[in-house]
Amino acid sequence: MDSNFKQKWEEYRSEFENVLADYLERMQIRPPVLNDSFRYSLALGGKRFRPVLMFACARSLGGKPGDVAGFALALEMLHTYSLIHDDLPAMDNDDFRRGKPSNHKVFGEGQAILAGDALLNEAYSVCFEECRKGKTYLNAAAEICKNAGVGGMIAGQAADLFFEQKEAGKAEEDFIILHKTAKMIVSAAVVPALVYGADENIAALFAEFGKHLGILFQLTDDILDVTGDFEKLGKTLGKDASEGKLTSVRVCGLDKCKELAEQHRNICRQILDDLPYDCSFLSELTDYVLNRDA
Ligand code: IPE
Ligand code: IPE
Ligand code: MG
Ligand code: MG
Ligand code: MG
Repeated sequence: MDSNFKQKWEEYRSEFENVLADYLERMQIRPPVLNDSFRYSLALGGKRFRPVLMFACARSLGGKPGDVAGFALALEMLHTYSLIHDDLPAMDNDDFRRGKPSNHKVFGEGQAILAGDALLNEAYSVCFEECRKGKTYLNAAAEICKNAGVGGMIAGQAADLFFEQKEAGKAEEDFIILHKTAKMIVSAAVVPALVYGADENIAALFAEFGKHLGILFQLTDDILDVTGDFEKLGKTLGKDASEGKLTSVRVCGLDKCKELAEQHRNICRQILDDLPYDCSFLSELTDYVLNRDA
């Protein structure tokens, strides 16, 4: 990894950690079990890919991370809730997340469901606070909610579960990837353009970039479930095959999957070339997603 890229990534990541720490300091949650379960998954970390992407898009547009900090927080909360629920026995039944026992392994299933619900509701609260700043913030909040909901991540998760152990093809698998993962990444990419009230064509290019980056992100997630390393990923490997998931690897095979990932990387690059801004970090971020091992 290029050291300049790494340094920038760290800068954005630590900026986000500060936003999160400030937020958590202000929160007073009772009863103690909810306080613990709520903080457990959120503070455990993970890559913070979505906040880093959002901050980097803000910078490309000439803005700064602080302009979209509330939305980065809301999106990471939505993402974290989706992971807590995704790991439940009723869904993927995963015992590990972010290198630690999954939320339900520590607090029990009922509390884990509630921790996820609490994160979801808090994310909306944070979005409503942002909406007070004006119409462009309202547009950004609406986009986040739309991409996380019934036409977005939840639809993808529903299809992912429905097609477990079933015969289905590329169209169904494409639906799953686009909805369960890419839509949330679209939010990260397009929110700054919406907040700044950028031209519609510019916002559309950021959304399109987010879509292909999101597809690429899930393709590499599927590949890593087969080829990855537990120490680096912090989650159990081989789960997709053992649960009979309709993944890109199952539909296309590992080699074709890697080819598809490169195609989406190339589309991302083309879109970035069409944007009239310095998108060098975003281009490197795309390469990082293609080559990631965590
Ligand atoms: C995992 O997301 C779930 C997917 C959408 C593939 P991440 O790989 O971003 O997980 P964390 O946030 O780093 O733990
Ligand atoms: C999950 O996809 C996407 C979410 C919306 C949480 P996966 O089930 O493949 O994610 P991992 O592999 O458990 O992180
Ligand atoms: Mg899943
Ligand atoms: Mg899973
Ligand atoms: Mg996976």
